[in-house]
Amino acid sequence: MYVCLCHAITDTQIRQAVSQGDTSLKEVRQRLGVGDQCGKCTRMAMQIIQQQLDVE
Ligand code: FES
Repeated sequence: MYVCLCHAITDTQIRQAVSQGDTSLKEVRQRLGVGDQCGKCTRMAMQIIQQQLDVE
């Protein structure tokens, strides 16, 4: 599903970023740009990052 509509970023892309070593919203933002426009997606993005960190 789309998490960040401004950049058309999906939860899968965010999970992959964590799998590739990102451990924070800041790092995922640097890699994908998630949350750097309207910011509405940041809460959801942080939840997905935390979920993925918990399973890895
Ligand atoms: Fe992600 Fe706007 S929806 S920055």
